Amino acid sequence: MPRRIIPVASGKGGVGKTTFAVNFALALSQRAPTILIDLDTATSSVRGSLAMPIAKDLYHFHRKGERLADCVTRLDARFDPEGRFGQFGFVAAPRHYLEEMANPDAALRRRLAAEINALPADYVVLDLRAGIDPAVADFLPYTNTGVLVFTPELPQATSAAADIVKAIVFRSLRAIFAPESQIWSLPGVGPARDLVPDLLARAEDCYDESVPNLDAFLAELGALVDDGALVEALRSLFADFRVHYVLNQFDGVEKAHERAVAPFVRSLAEQVSTHLDLTQLGWIVQDAELHRANCSGRPYLLGPEAKPAPSERAAKPSRDVFAELDSLRSAALGLDRRVAQRVAANRDAGPGPDAGVDALLGEQLASLRTMFSDRRKDSVRENFSYCVYRALNLMQPPRLPTELGMTQIAPPEQLVKWLLRRLPGMAATTA
Ligand SMILES: Nc1ncnc2c1ncn2[C@@H]1O[C@H](COP(=O)(O)OP(=O)(O)OP(=O)(O)O)[C@@H](O)[C@H]1O
Ligand SMILES: [Mg+2]
Repeated sequence: MPRRIIPVASGKGGVGKTTFAVNFALALSQRAPTILIDLDTATSSVRGSLAMPIAKDLYHFHRKGERLADCVTRLDARFDPEGRFGQFGFVAAPRHYLEEMANPDAALRRRLAAEINALPADYVVLDLRAGIDPAVADFLPYTNTGVLVFTPELPQATSAAADIVKAIVFRSLRAIFAPESQIWSLPGVGPARDLVPDLLARAEDCYDESVPNLDAFLAELGALVDDGALVEALRSLFADFRVHYVLNQFDGVEKAHERAVAPFVRSLAEQVSTHLDLTQLGWIVQDAELHRANCSGRPYLLGPEAKPAPSERAAKPSRDVFAELDSLRSAALGLDRRVAQRVAANRDAGPGPDAGVDALLGEQLASLRTMFSDRRKDSVRENFSYCVYRALNLMQPPRLPTELGMTQIAPPEQLVKWLLRRLPGMAATTA
């Protein structure tokens, strides 16, 4: 079973999800067995960017009853002559448009999720399609965003990325307050059964300003249900919610901040909450070679290792990026800790929405600057290694297994169990 399933989403199309997912999975596979799954089943592009002969794909899984694990394609000697990526595999989407695969029904999504949960790999990376329909939402975690990709080059991509966060948060709330949810049997909650759905709908509706976001929803919920512990448990559930993002086509800190990060933070604060915990995993620079590699069907990381310039070679005898990154470990951990402390301080400082947004903006700019000051000269290859390094760091104990990606594509009942476990006296009954 996978240690972690990591969806790559963006909301907007064409911002670099597939480029990121393919190379991220390749880089991850140098650490542990990794399988990439093309869940863009309507306009599959993993197949295009990895132009290998494919014996079985999602068509065989769906139409021929094959096990998903038997539809994994491994790199052949032409793509991986030195066997550096022996731990990498991918499952391609069908070769051509097939309505039932392009718009998988609930039964197919469930079967796919169950088999993804059982794949023999440490890491499973999901390349999702653009948009936020059930074929995307069903493969997103409840407790974090997976990896969101957006770019300063396309301002609309920023609000689409924020919309994904909103979609995950409200999907979670709908699961918690679903008609069949255990939540209604809690003392003091049942009587609000008829009122909460309307409150939730108003909070999600961006045209209705009466309940602008999650923070307002939780405040109003406190007045509706006679159970302070439930509202506190919800607050703590969402306080642990993690947003992870990667900036693609990165072209300098100030531009990225002004055109992508700041609008993202503002949109999140407005639509979702000022109390979210945001983590930048890193960035990928705009690079013609990366684009050429995609077009030629051989991913960038499968290309020849870039040769360092002679002067650089003298200064840096080893090109082992991981070894180099390990030396940055304490710095990165220190950075995460500082950001976490600031988030906590911000939370304790009370509501004040503007103060919350300013604090979030300050954190994001500070972390981008700190990361960039060390990695200013990095190549695309190093950009991917750095994202992998940060991701691995976030997935290591003592971090919560719910922090990045998911240990299984979980059904809504699982989320309700996690929530109930946060209620005093409920831990033992919800194992
Ligand atoms: N950092 C980059 N430098 C240069 N070109 C890039 C970069 N990232 C992506 N591209 C190019 O941008 C285009 C879109 O990238 P990609 O297919 O990865 O996006 P996507 O989000 O998966 O799109 P879709 O929503 O259609 O699935 C491709 O032509 C790709 O080669
Ligand atoms: Mg794509």
